[in-house]
Amino acid sequence: MKNVLKWIGLGASALILFVLVVFGYFHVSSSNKTSSTYAGIKGKNLYVTADSAAIERGKHLAHGLAGCAGCHGDDLAGMSTDMRPLAMFNVPNITQGVGGLPPDYSVQDLDLVVRHGIKRDKTGVIIMPVYHNNRIADEDIAAIYTYLMSAPKINRKIEPLSLGPIGKMLVARDQVVVMPAVVNHNFKPGARPGIAPTAEYGKYLAEVACMGCHAPNYSGGPVFNGDPSWPPAPNLTTKLDRYTLESFVALLKTGIRPDGTTIDAKAMPVRDTKNADSLEYAALWNYITSLPKVPDASANWKDELMIK
Ligand code: HEC
Ligand code: HEC
Repeated sequence: MKNVLKWIGLGASALILFVLVVFGYFHVSSSNKTSSTYAGIKGKNLYVTADSAAIERGKHLAHGLAGCAGCHGDDLAGMSTDMRPLAMFNVPNITQGVGGLPPDYSVQDLDLVVRHGIKRDKTGVIIMPVYHNNRIADEDIAAIYTYLMSAPKINRKIEPLSLGPIGKMLVARDQVVVMPAVVNHNFKPGARPGIAPTAEYGKYLAEVACMGCHAPNYSGGPVFNGDPSWPPAPNLTTKLDRYTLESFVALLKTGIRPDGTTIDAKAMPVRDTKNADSLEYAALWNYITSLPKVPDASANWKDELMIK
């Protein structure tokens, strides 16, 4: 009996040691990745017009399809969500209050983080969806900047985002990526199409706001860089067959499908899509319903989404 217990004890110690070694590896590997710096890449020094039209445009995008307020908070002063053992998901204050962006924060700094995923301290962001936000056109980045600079300054200090053991494991295994390591820094978004309820403008909006999750050809699949517990993103080229423009708008506003069931709003960001306007809904609808039908999860991420 004693011997058996001794063996069980040894087995348990070996298991604990094994777990410690594995998590030690995840810790070192993930902190190497999150602390890498990207000094050679520069943001674009965009032309900024600080007029009320630009502020309105920036506000509409930041609280709507660009998704900034969905993560940084309705007041933009940051949010903390306890997602342990995944992470303490702390999203920074991006107002110019104490604990927020420094007084000399420039449009070039904003371009660098939104399009390249690189912060002022030259380290990379995780989670922030640079792989589709890098499609935002120059004048819209400038508008978002103008809006941020005009938004009420809120004093709130938020601890840096910190990964728990599961989060470290996901980063070590590249299931959650440090953005500047994967996005194509040579990608240059084209000119923004005219703001109209056209498929052309819908394409622009879908690339900025939907593509990163529903995949480059909108064929869906497991959500890239998402929480592994999320349901897969549906194939929008076939799923919209049972929708009309009205029920599509209802889904984006409320998260309720035509059959009355509710989608998982943590995964599908209704918090952002609910703030889009009727022109944007019509443009998205016209574009997405014009897409060729493709098999589920058939996207070529590497070439199309510019991920290494
Ligand atoms: C899915 C959530 C998410 C979305 C959407 C998002 N962000 Fe972020 N953002 C983050 C997180 C998380 C960080 C901090 C990441 C880190 O430190 O690794 C961050 C960091 C930042 C920073 C700080 C940069 C620095 O120098 O420290 C700025 C500015 C910023 N985001 C602006 C924006 C803007 C503008 C948008 C919309 C175009 C946006 N974010 C959309 C999550 C998000
Ligand atoms: C952060 C990832 C993410 C983004 C961004 C996103 N989606 Fe989704 N979407 C999902 C996931 C995941 C689901 C599945 C949710 C579920 O099954 O509960 C979903 C579900 C949907 C559905 C429901 C289909 C059905 O009937 O089951 C539609 C329609 C949709 N998304 C359209 C869009 C459009 C349009 C955009 C851009 C404006 C967008 N999504 C942006 C992840 C995302």
